[in-house]
Amino acid sequence: MAVSESTRKLAARLRDQISHHDHRYYVLDDPEIPDAEYDRLFAALLQLEAEHEELRSPNSPTQRVGGKAQSEFASVTHGIAMLSLDNAFAEEQVESFNQRVLDRLEETGPISYAVEPKLDGTAVSIRYESGKLAVAATRGDGRTGEDVTHNIRTIGAVPMSLSGSDYPQVLEVRGEVFMPVKGFEEFNAHARERGKKTFANPRNAAAGSLRQLDPKVAASRPLSIFIYGVGVVEGGSLPQQHSETLAALAGFGFRVCPENSVVEGAEGCLGYYRAIGERRKELAYEIDGVVYKVDDYGKQKKLGFVSRAPRWAIAHKYPAQEEMTKVLDVDWQVGRTGAVTPVARLEPVLVGGVTVSNATLHNMDELERKDVRIGDAVVIRRAGDVIPEVVSVVAKRRKKGARRAKLPARCPVCKSDVSRPEGEAVARCSGGLYCSAQRKEALKHFVSRRALDIEGLGSKLIDQLVDSKIIKTPADLFDPAKVNTESLAALDRMAEKSAENLMVAIEASRKPTLARFLYAIGIREVGEATAENLAEYFGTLGSLRTASADPEALQEVPDVGPVVAEHIQTFFAQPHNIEVIEKLVGANALVIAESTPREVERTHAAITGKTFVVTGTLSGMSRDEAKGEIRKRGGKVTGSVSKKTDFLVFGDKPGSKLEKAQNLGVTALDEQGFLKLLGS
Ligand code: IVH
Repeated sequence: MAVSESTRKLAARLRDQISHHDHRYYVLDDPEIPDAEYDRLFAALLQLEAEHEELRSPNSPTQRVGGKAQSEFASVTHGIAMLSLDNAFAEEQVESFNQRVLDRLEETGPISYAVEPKLDGTAVSIRYESGKLAVAATRGDGRTGEDVTHNIRTIGAVPMSLSGSDYPQVLEVRGEVFMPVKGFEEFNAHARERGKKTFANPRNAAAGSLRQLDPKVAASRPLSIFIYGVGVVEGGSLPQQHSETLAALAGFGFRVCPENSVVEGAEGCLGYYRAIGERRKELAYEIDGVVYKVDDYGKQKKLGFVSRAPRWAIAHKYPAQEEMTKVLDVDWQVGRTGAVTPVARLEPVLVGGVTVSNATLHNMDELERKDVRIGDAVVIRRAGDVIPEVVSVVAKRRKKGARRAKLPARCPVCKSDVSRPEGEAVARCSGGLYCSAQRKEALKHFVSRRALDIEGLGSKLIDQLVDSKIIKTPADLFDPAKVNTESLAALDRMAEKSAENLMVAIEASRKPTLARFLYAIGIREVGEATAENLAEYFGTLGSLRTASADPEALQEVPDVGPVVAEHIQTFFAQPHNIEVIEKLVGANALVIAESTPREVERTHAAITGKTFVVTGTLSGMSRDEAKGEIRKRGGKVTGSVSKKTDFLVFGDKPGSKLEKAQNLGVTALDEQGFLKLLGS
């Protein structure tokens, strides 16, 4: 059946709306609508395109991850070479760069420079023809790069079609693909937990993600982009200044770095360098310097370039975040959950202006994979506020005497057995709360800012309170026979006044929300978000405790899978945990505010009261979003397929659950079918 005019218009309108919201979200970082609303638009378009083949188009926002995996990378010849930049490390080098520019242009007045952060990612060139994304390539050797169109399309900040109408018919934009620091840290933490390979730094993460044949991999990585220039431009024109061109590009829908600016002369450049340097830590992405570019294109042309770098630009680098030093020893630290973490003691070295003498090796798996040995020369890295880490060993420099660090058989603090279950990355002290290291860490977590937030109760004080046997558990903090002005004032570096203040802070922490409390008690893998979901779902500590015996029931909570469910079950099955909790809430030491359980937004004939399992990778929404949609309509979601399951919703790589559902005769819905059900 031919598609009616109104359906065609509806699809076009949905595409425009989705592109508009992609731009608000990924480019401007300023979404206008909640995610759920966006998901509905997206689902509606997916459904239309599924029903009418004629409506499908490669540039639809639904087709970002549409392509199949490639078998190899095609090569792309750049119409205009992708150059690199000369580097300056000292102020004098910037001054002489500016002088060379003045001399060549035979000018004396100050030059206007477009100034930008130098992003630490990987360079790409993206070609648009008639406003549509046509091809994207890596820099390669500058003349020829690799075709990474399939991966670039998955980046939300890259428009599939340009906005407005005054863009050139052929427009090549150039920019840096990068992984924002937060995404990078989360990616690595997740990989580490599962014993998978981590990335040494965000730059490798970005480059490694683009060098994937299957676009689903890039799609699953939190990549973004800043556009910083143009290549081939045909059939139209752009402004005569670099800074104005960037503004025009932003108008076409590209993401341009908000820190870009225009300054006058070498003085202006150096001022910018210092200002950005001070804010470097706060930026959401890594930079390794700033770039100064002569703003006027006419002047750029006059200046030209030498071999691979333009004469009209220079990169001014910040001190490195990575340095080389020597491993003196490997120590073992015991964390809150008993994890025994290897820590490299280093020959002190200055990294980006800070002396570093310890760096984490994360866990046994990483230690073994990186093959770090005592005596080795290693590269260490420090970024923002995270703990410095050992990135790699300089293999060429390994000396004969370098020896492997051995996981201790007993906990260095409490001497309990240390075990490392087969296939696990993390070794653990079996001492539990007998181990004072674990107790100290648990207490530090309990009082931390996002937990009970007891101001003034820092790490050193907790160490003293535990070492002097005043407290053992969080409940002791609220026991006036143990913690009072006198006992506190007797501690090192505590005066009466600070003891009184601390008592006030303890008093003020007595009414936590359920979410904070659940986070504070330190159930393994229950972070803030999961704690909030649990609180919202169960409403009271009592109902969570009751449900904790039933992992299936726990898995109905968003975010809670079989592993977390088991941790919750184990936690509430420990008598000493129950004892502490009962002391905390029993004598009203703490009064926990109850949460209002989430309500069903609307009932749905086919969904309300039915039990769902969601498995595999869906293309238009995450699994959590799918679960959310089911719950909103009054359905239940569990983690495993059984006779009680009514529907299995499956995406790509569904695993064994699909087979099980088929064997049990459970209705299996693919993504299209699921969307239809939601919409029906
Ligand atoms: S302009 C002819 N601007 O640095 C000018 N490059 O060493 C070519 N980079 O390959 C590049 N941020 O990957 C420019 N704001 C910025 C940049 C930047 C990062 C990278 C880019 C390039 C390398 C040059």
